[in-house]
Amino acid sequence: MAKLNILKDGDPTLRKVCRPVEAVTPRICTLLDDMIETMRAANGCGLAAPQVGVLRRIVVVECEEGKVIELINPRIIARAGKQEEAEGCLSVPGRWGLTDRPRHVTVRAMDRDGNEFEVSGSDLLARCFCHEIDHLDGILFTDKVVRMLDPSEVE
Ligand code: NI
Repeated sequence: MAKLNILKDGDPTLRKVCRPVEAVTPRICTLLDDMIETMRAANGCGLAAPQVGVLRRIVVVECEEGKVIELINPRIIARAGKQEEAEGCLSVPGRWGLTDRPRHVTVRAMDRDGNEFEVSGSDLLARCFCHEIDHLDGILFTDKVVRMLDPSEVE
């Protein structure tokens, strides 16, 4: 496994639309492993492939320690409720803002064995799914922020 460099806001790669994965190759599995290591090393709860310079529709999420969710070609198929909470991004270090997100989402994706599955999440996990899937379309949380927060407002 290898820790990858995380691109920062201003890098044009973060603004590109990613291509779907057609087949899960060993190279894709290595990328997933490296993304997990990179996310953990940066103390993040999610990471999208474009953040490490790979324009593929791949996301990893770990909102609860040890519970890694790998999403290949993810799409949100259901959303419900609303939440407005503080959000940040490993590509936008040191900045936080309130975003308007659904309270619950269901995501359909492919796993590393090539099987389709569905996963639902609420609260932080729902925000994380929305945030990371936005990255695949070149969208950063700062595009959607309701209000940026002063660092003193973030614990
Ligand atoms: Ni992010």
